[in-house]
Amino acid sequence: MAVILGIESSCDETSASICIDGEIFSNVIATQAIHAKYGGVVPELASRAHQQNIIPTVEEAIRTAKIHKNQIDAVAFTRGPGLLGALLVGTSFAKSFALARNIPLIDVNHMQAHILAHFIEDPKPTFPFLCLTVSGGHTQIVLVKDYFEMEILGQTLDDAAGEAFDKTAKILNLPYPGGPLIDKHAQNGNPDAYKLPEPQIQGLDFSFSGLKTAILYMVQKEEKADPDFLKNHMDDVCASVQSRIVSILLNKLKKAAKETGVKDIAIAGGVSANSGLRRELLAMGERYKWNVFIPKFEYCTDNAAMIAIAGYQKYLINDFVGQDVGPLARMHM
Ligand code: KG4
Ligand code: ZN
Repeated sequence: MAVILGIESSCDETSASICIDGEIFSNVIATQAIHAKYGGVVPELASRAHQQNIIPTVEEAIRTAKIHKNQIDAVAFTRGPGLLGALLVGTSFAKSFALARNIPLIDVNHMQAHILAHFIEDPKPTFPFLCLTVSGGHTQIVLVKDYFEMEILGQTLDDAAGEAFDKTAKILNLPYPGGPLIDKHAQNGNPDAYKLPEPQIQGLDFSFSGLKTAILYMVQKEEKADPDFLKNHMDDVCASVQSRIVSILLNKLKKAAKETGVKDIAIAGGVSANSGLRRELLAMGERYKWNVFIPKFEYCTDNAAMIAIAGYQKYLINDFVGQDVGPLARMHM
């Protein structure tokens, strides 16, 4: 039997999870509400909140899984990419825990873990599969050849898809994080109400900064005619924005599927919680006869279950790190 403790602290969620033989028994997430009033994640506040949350979060994960801490066989932690100070809290905790208990330490790449969240539950994709990984910091199309053999086929040249949602939300005076709020308003709006440009980017790369500017100009222009424009048209604006972000993402994914001939198509990361993206991907999957894989909501945004499951796969191949390991703000796949 292999019991893995997973720790996630790369951004603004402190999370701990217990995985036993590849099955998740707990996934406790402490969200940091403090950032909302600043309109974005404040790194120093995130580090302090992680310090306060980490021990109670781990204790709750152990309690929920109904195990004793002496039964844990290895500790997996997010090494990067992410905010350095935030990563440092999880890394230091994991190192101390492993040292005190004399058990192996496993480093996990956060972006790989988002993808490996697909191995938490059935149905699981088969290798090789394509994964559109969309979070607050990343937008990538990844060819996943094996658990830890991943090739980035395309990525954003400027903002990430989550950033496009959050920065647009700021223009629309919605609080941080704006992605889920745009999603909510979009459900009552007309996606064709406002025409927004689709950037013309070569290959499988993305760009979202032009879209953000186009939205800003559109809102400024409309507000000249009607100062209450946003109040009166929020749902339609959100639906149009969301529809454009989703079409930018899915057009490239379609291109990648065509170029590689791969039929198992997955999405991962915080933006894969978006209802428009989920709906359109399913529709596209039917049209092109893809096998589509969409994670459960709780495994889309940052969580430690994905770290524990990635750690479990590394545990099986004895892929451990020493006590000299440190966090990496930038970490390649
Ligand atoms: O993966 P994640 O939790 O953290 C990072 O690693 O970045 O992703 C967070 C991002 C934020 O930009 C948030 O606005 C976005 O995911 N997000 C959404 C939705 N839920 C979360 N964006 C659009 N629609 C949603 N329903
Ligand atoms: Zn993430």
